[in-house]
Amino acid sequence: MQKLEVFGAKKLKGQINISGSKNASLPILAATLLSKNRITLKNLPKVKDIETMINLLQSLGSITKLNKQSLIIDNSKQKKVFASYNLVKTMRAGILVLGPLIAKFRKAKVSLPGGCAIGTRPVDIHLKSLSKLGVKFKILGGYVHANAPKGLIGTTIRFPKISVGATENLIIAACFAKGKTILNNCAIEPEIKDLVNFLLKMGCKITWIGKRSIKIYGVKQIKEISYSIMFDRIEAGTYLIAGALTEGNLQINNVIPKIIKTEIDVLKKVGAKIKVYRDKVNIIGSKKIKSIEINTSPYPGFPTDLQAQIMVLLCKANKKSIIQEDIFENRFMHVAELNRMGAQILVKGNKAEVKGNINFAPAELMATDLRASVSLILAALTTKGKSIINRIYHLDRGYENIEKKLNKVGAKIRRVN
Ligand code: EPZ
Repeated sequence: MQKLEVFGAKKLKGQINISGSKNASLPILAATLLSKNRITLKNLPKVKDIETMINLLQSLGSITKLNKQSLIIDNSKQKKVFASYNLVKTMRAGILVLGPLIAKFRKAKVSLPGGCAIGTRPVDIHLKSLSKLGVKFKILGGYVHANAPKGLIGTTIRFPKISVGATENLIIAACFAKGKTILNNCAIEPEIKDLVNFLLKMGCKITWIGKRSIKIYGVKQIKEISYSIMFDRIEAGTYLIAGALTEGNLQINNVIPKIIKTEIDVLKKVGAKIKVYRDKVNIIGSKKIKSIEINTSPYPGFPTDLQAQIMVLLCKANKKSIIQEDIFENRFMHVAELNRMGAQILVKGNKAEVKGNINFAPAELMATDLRASVSLILAALTTKGKSIINRIYHLDRGYENIEKKLNKVGAKIRRVN
């Protein structure tokens, strides 16, 4: 089992190139199943979850070839509709193959994803919404058995709750449904816009008809295309927070600043100096970090995927801060580990009271989920001495070359077996 040794305290200075978005790549990879042609994808991040999704596509019969920075997917012989537990259990986004498989083959057998550290993560909205397009479901032995003998029929659906994954599954499935589908109360994360741009380029008929409403006309044919994935806004936000936290001077490249406006505004509010350019952002951390109250919410609100990271920054603020987690029911797993480093964070329900003026101390730590693990690295960067972070397989699911990128700007992180 690998672990990371992090030697602090370091000020981060220099430039970091942001990779492609994991959370845009996953639905787009799933959506390639709609095609019978070849699809070329560029700027996929080299992270474990993408590898797992590619393995899942291969298990369904897709032929994939990696050449230089592009992945070529050939689905001319793709016929299987069984997505096995051993692939889906490690990567919940495996449920995203359900929509395209049922749209293309009118049947599918997909493992129910387990829960994970941050919550039960049910897929009831995915299934209930797909059944409105005419899909019949049976849950048997941990698998979703889906059938739509007459194919999918377009209709109007309103999501009972904003769900990124359910919105993605339904948009993909509706591309092959007969007639018109209108989806209301959609999630509008940038990754969903990237998925829609990918589908439009393949020839699907999709129009945003309201802030959270989308209209889709089913099509029969889609084209062979190549597509470049958008940047990873959570990776970008993570490194901006690292720059603010270490009183550093960091420039992050290959980003679209307006997409991370909320995060930039929050960092300005806590006192960081930020300069925005066309495709890069420069942050200079200040000695004085101001406390704030913040709650996570669906885009364009403050992302839940940056909640653990901003919590570390607020431990250094001049007063107590409050963080309210409104998306997941159990996304404070990092608190216990941060408290072991000297933080004084009190969790009350979905609120965390974060005491300020904390000096972290190095410790041996355990990562519990993807974003919690990166928050431990951030805390370890601020303190003199060596911290050890175990179970870094969580980290490798979503951060490409994190120790290389951080060491290039002045960190000292070693990966040991
Ligand atoms: C996506 O997860 C992201 N994952 C998550 O990022 C992100 O935290 C989340 O959206 C919220 O932004 C990917 O894009 C691969 P949801 P998803 O459906 O689609 C409940 C990361 O760190 N819900 O928007 O699973 C659910 O339990 C990951 O990169 C239902 O109740 O999130 C949660 O409380 C972590 N029933 C809330 O809705 C359902 O059928 C939002 O979940 C579906 C969801």
